[in-house]
Amino acid sequence: MLRIGLLGFGTVGSSFAEVLAASGADARITHVFNRGVVRKKTHERAKFVPADAKWTERVEDVLAAADVDCVVELMGGLDPAEGWLRAALSSGKHVVTANKQLIAYRGGELFELAAKHNVQLLYGAAVAGGVPVIPGVSQGLSGDQIRRVSGIVNGTCNFILSSMESGAEYATVLKEAQRLGYAEANPAADVDGLDARAKLCILARLALRAEISPDDVPAQSIAQVSAIDFAYAKELDCTIRQVSRAEVEDGAVQARVGPMLVPKISPIAWSHGTQNMVVTSGRFGGDVVFSGHGAGGHPTAVAVMSDVRAVSLRSIKVRLPAKKMAVSGDCIAPHYLRFVVSDRPGIVASIAGALAKYGVNIDSLLQHRGHTAARLPFVITTEPCRISTVVDAVQEMGTLPFMVETPLCLQILVVDDPETD
Ligand code: NAP
Ligand code: HSE
Repeated sequence: MLRIGLLGFGTVGSSFAEVLAASGADARITHVFNRGVVRKKTHERAKFVPADAKWTERVEDVLAAADVDCVVELMGGLDPAEGWLRAALSSGKHVVTANKQLIAYRGGELFELAAKHNVQLLYGAAVAGGVPVIPGVSQGLSGDQIRRVSGIVNGTCNFILSSMESGAEYATVLKEAQRLGYAEANPAADVDGLDARAKLCILARLALRAEISPDDVPAQSIAQVSAIDFAYAKELDCTIRQVSRAEVEDGAVQARVGPMLVPKISPIAWSHGTQNMVVTSGRFGGDVVFSGHGAGGHPTAVAVMSDVRAVSLRSIKVRLPAKKMAVSGDCIAPHYLRFVVSDRPGIVASIAGALAKYGVNIDSLLQHRGHTAARLPFVITTEPCRISTVVDAVQEMGTLPFMVETPLCLQILVVDDPETD
């Protein structure tokens, strides 16, 4: 029997208690740690915690308990979780966690600590919630050489953007994502791309065997995307999704997270709601797609439960070394530029002039009729160019006197042509 000390009885922690109770696994919760346990004991899922389990507000009660074999950490954040998990591993307890920030920033050291104390540290829920992308990549695809990993790894952003595609308002859907328990404690981590880039770094370690820091991965917020962008994207046979991408090129990792225009023919465009989708591209095996619910208590608890089973069955994990690599977010891609201007003659000429100055070639210009002259939106798409170049050009254009809003600049995802790949 695996005896579990559960840290955190929130959305995922309480769902895990329910999934474990239904599992028939040879494992049971002996301790639950959370602040305000009186409040937590009234939670509708508290009934799934065994009646003889100890509820405590003192983490030492779990870390020092002789009747805890495995600590399941479902609180989140780097601090104090890191110190507590180090203490757990050092005292010979296995650890299962859904904490992507911790694994992205400190994973390397924590794996070493776990190996030193001959215990397991599993984190299958840290990327793509209930989708088994971590065991799939680390076990199932360890025989290939993966050169690119891309897709959608934040359920909240996908929920927001796919709802906006159907006409919903950004602020309303974000509130709904919070109510449904998809969003992080601070939802800025979702919408600004910090959650996704931590997950991308975990995937880069496993798939590309590249140790990269989340701080080095450029992340663009989805907060500036508006309804008009979906209308123009549709005209370009695209939609908008928060895409995370990492690829090894010339000894460095090209990595980036942000809202991008995704052609409707790409499977990434088909994901709706909290669905996550990770596509790995291997040298020998080609593309493999992982898809399913990437956020929410129950799907995530399934991944936690799978790790708990693996610990209880003492499954051996493949662990391949990763090496530290530099990151560049500056790839070459076509771009979508959206301007909102106060109408007057010469605007297109000024913008075209600024783009020409930076050597950016225009591919198309789209303008819908029927908007007020005081807030006229229109769009330019560019031929492939370096991101840093187009960003510099857009920054300069942002200072032009007729600009009513900061221009929006989104990368347009290019779908590989299998004939030429
Ligand atoms: P949550 O609902 O906020 O639950 C966290 C729980 O931990 C809450 O009960 C919170 O207590 C408690 N807690 C946090 N810090 C604490 C501290 N310092 N001392 C004592 N108790 C503390 O969060 P969640 O959505 O379950 O997420 C948990 C973890 O799973 C995070 O690492 C998250 O990134 C990850 N994750 C979540 C999802 C998802 O869809 N929600 C999916 C995949 C991974 P209070 O109630 O008092 O705040
Ligand atoms: N907030 C995260 C998301 C939870 O929306 O994807 C899953 O990691």
